[in-house]
Amino acid sequence: MKWKDNIIDSFVWGEIARREEKERVARLIAAMVKDGDVVGIGSGSTSYLALLTIAGRVKREGLFVRAIPTSLEITMACAGLGIPVTNLEENRPDWTFDGADEIDPDLNLIKGRGGAMFREKLLINSSPKTYIIADSSKRVARLGEKFPVPVEVFPQALTYVGQALKELAPTDIRLRMAEGKDGPIITENGNLIVDVWFDGIPEGAEVALKSITGVIESGLFTGYAVEIVDAG
Ligand code: A5P
Repeated sequence: MKWKDNIIDSFVWGEIARREEKERVARLIAAMVKDGDVVGIGSGSTSYLALLTIAGRVKREGLFVRAIPTSLEITMACAGLGIPVTNLEENRPDWTFDGADEIDPDLNLIKGRGGAMFREKLLINSSPKTYIIADSSKRVARLGEKFPVPVEVFPQALTYVGQALKELAPTDIRLRMAEGKDGPIITENGNLIVDVWFDGIPEGAEVALKSITGVIESGLFTGYAVEIVDAG
């Protein structure tokens, strides 16, 4: 039975920057979907637009497609669009698509503006193939030009992690504060996010960050075998 007047139907994304460019990329991704696919779905507005376009194909062509979402907002969007959701316990994704905040010439990434980098990294590592979908603003000569490296931190470890991060010589370390609630952002895993700014990200930073006790994951993705899909 379907819920009547489901509040999830009122889910809206809000203003999307560079929407036309992102919609072109969304169409390229939607064209890759095959009947029966289990698709890993990243977070952010580009992933959302790709999901919308896939949902259009599912409806028109009667495809059976399941999603493994990386965030609550994408899970809600799937519910609103009638795309069934599964999980990594039950299924391996056939392939995954996800956005990025920065992409360097070697295809290293900064992700996690949306705070979902832990599940995004888990999904990318679980998936045989990942497409990173990006508009032209995401290409940078050097990671860290525009965005900090987000680091998800177990709350009781915040002080220790804050001290340990100084070993990596950041230019600034900030606890990410919430908008729409008092205090810091709480991730879907119940943790905090610390944004770490660098003037040049040190070699081996992804491993160094992960080795700090209390760091759950970082938004640095170095050396992942991803393929970039952009608007050309
Ligand atoms: C989410 O945590 C990020 O890793 C996103 O992939 C990123 O912020 C991309 O967002 P847009 O598609 O909205 O630019």
